[in-house]
Amino acid sequence: MAKGPITAKDLLPMEAEIEHQHLAEEIERHDRLYHAEDAPEISDAEYDALRARLVEIEAAFPQLASRAGTAVGSAPSGKFAKIRHRVPMLSLGNVFSTEEAGEFVARVRRFLDYPVDKPLAFTAEPKIDGLSLSLRYEKRRLVSAATRGDGAEGEDVTANIRAVLASTGIPETLPAAAPDIAEIRGEIYLSHADFQAINARQAEIGGKIFANPRNAAAGSLRQIDPKVTASRPLRFFAYAWGEMSSAPANTQSGMVEAFARWGFPVNPLMRLCADAEALVAHYRLIERERPVIGYDIDGVVYKVDDLELQRRLGFVARAPRWAVAHKFPAEKAVTRLNAIEIQVGRTGALTPVAKLEPVNVGGVIVSNATLHNADEIARLDARVGDYVVIQRAGDVIPQVVEVVRERRPPEATAFEFPHICPCALKTPVIREATSAGVEGAVRRCSGEFACPFQRVEHLRHFVSRRAFDIEGLGEKQIAFFYECPVEALRIREPADIFTLEARNAASFQKIENFEGFGKQSVVNLFAAIAARREISLERFIFALGIRHVGETTAKLLARHSGTWLDFEAAARRVALEDPEAIAELQAIDQIGPSVIEALAEFFGRVDAVSMVDRLAAELVILPAEKPRGESPVTGKTVVFTGSLEMMTRDEAKARAESLGAKVAGSVSKKTDYVVAGPGAGSKLDKATELGVRVMTEAEWLALIGESAV
Ligand code: IVH
Repeated sequence: MAKGPITAKDLLPMEAEIEHQHLAEEIERHDRLYHAEDAPEISDAEYDALRARLVEIEAAFPQLASRAGTAVGSAPSGKFAKIRHRVPMLSLGNVFSTEEAGEFVARVRRFLDYPVDKPLAFTAEPKIDGLSLSLRYEKRRLVSAATRGDGAEGEDVTANIRAVLASTGIPETLPAAAPDIAEIRGEIYLSHADFQAINARQAEIGGKIFANPRNAAAGSLRQIDPKVTASRPLRFFAYAWGEMSSAPANTQSGMVEAFARWGFPVNPLMRLCADAEALVAHYRLIERERPVIGYDIDGVVYKVDDLELQRRLGFVARAPRWAVAHKFPAEKAVTRLNAIEIQVGRTGALTPVAKLEPVNVGGVIVSNATLHNADEIARLDARVGDYVVIQRAGDVIPQVVEVVRERRPPEATAFEFPHICPCALKTPVIREATSAGVEGAVRRCSGEFACPFQRVEHLRHFVSRRAFDIEGLGEKQIAFFYECPVEALRIREPADIFTLEARNAASFQKIENFEGFGKQSVVNLFAAIAARREISLERFIFALGIRHVGETTAKLLARHSGTWLDFEAAARRVALEDPEAIAELQAIDQIGPSVIEALAEFFGRVDAVSMVDRLAAELVILPAEKPRGESPVTGKTVVFTGSLEMMTRDEAKARAESLGAKVAGSVSKKTDYVVAGPGAGSKLDKATELGVRVMTEAEWLALIGESAV
């Protein structure tokens, strides 16, 4: 991998000239790809390396410099400024069938305690397959436009949106009726006709062909040069909102009507529906319209119409309880299964991947699909050489759903799942049993941190966007540093990332001399690493890559523990089977036995704990944020018992948790409040016995600042 680093001054003049010319041409080509075509072929780091080499050669051979001057544009920043969303931009849960759509309606009714005969209105509208955008107006003037990003923080695309006000129909100013602060959200998309025209033009100029309208819209919006964006006829539909100093309506449909009055394009296919049957009927209508609608849609979104009910329903993790996307069925195609490859994941799970003859499935070229596990291969009886049916739905990884038996070649033999991990250790593959003693479907490499595949996957997870998110340290760079020919520069565990700069300084061979790196990219990389020495507790816990501990769980654990020291101490106690520590985790809502088991497993491993300690020593781990500001019940433990009259049990629980309280199922000396309704029994007795404060539902509502009317 080393470039056989010949320093520029050691090059022969002729060699220098050839390399210089080559570099200048390459840089010019990449500038064009990046700026004009939104189709970069190389990473920013690689680009920086090219430029750094060019500068190095010019410094050694000044006579070459003048010729390149015009060929090389300014280095692309590659970045948009970030905008933090004041109200997070959420995603939607999905349903795939009429039954599930009915269950959504039933769930909402149950949560609100609405019997079937009580009217409950929903809206139904197309789900646009584009990118969501948040437009902020202050004093009725457009001040910023941001992409969704990770939901909390998006990219500032204000300049580009200003360049497409005409085609999108996004107003620059709002009428006097609009409030002082209004954030309008919706979808940026391209029509089929415009998408085809853009691709035809790209073909003409030898530019990148976009795979689908969504990619083309994203590429068009994320242009560094707004002039390029201006040449792409982007469109917009408004369907949601963020911060709003006063709401113009008290229903979803009323809000969208107000947006239309203020000049925003809104989807003409939005309808009000009284029940699940009406929602599904409208879904069918939109499905019939789909081929002639003129832009990509991937389902129908159902939303509770009444905003007060939306507020009561609230959110679970990243999606609202009051809305759901009813997705159109997956698209299918038939192709040949060329090979079955085994990949080892972060947790050691061996996943068989179908290597396919590339095929177009609903506009996307698919050449890999998941086969899930050994049982699935056996169930399908998938054999190399078979023709298989591939399906993909939205962003879901393509799947093999069926084998076309009639087309099986005679030589195809059944696949034998490996009994040893493909890693260098050749560890035996184990099949775990569930707590009920049933053999699990997943086969795992038992090598854990000794298995190089698992270590690399761990590192990849560690630097991924939702974890440490280190710019310039992606999958490619992790692979490079893991196997770096210079041992002193290797990254084998997370702590190594933070010692890299010092090791590089002390090393005779430097990172900048390797292909893909340059002086500037190394400086940038160290800056990006340094910026992450301070990290929030929730990101840190998530980054550890403990099984079953996803982002939501990490957040719950962080909020519960407050600090890293407290969390680690608790987790170690759990590993030692301390019943009190276990009970405390069990009391956190949404933390189940699998999480507790995984924490015990992880923190019971000497290698894992010492790895984490080495890492923590390099960092400042910030205490967890308190949920949505302090409330009178933040950090308190509450038990609801008896029947509640002003809200359902689910609602009471969700509300309390959103205010930072813990909701427990049983009363102990750690309980702060017991909210008792009529019919309360043993829990009330226990509370009295322990001297825990007991209150009525109305008192509870008064405490959390909601009137009890
Ligand atoms: S409502 C709080 N309505 O779908 C819920 N989303 O899967 C806000 N989308 O990020 C979303 N059409 O980009 C809503 N009519 C529609 C939509 C829609 C497309 C997108 C949106 C969102 C994603 C969620």
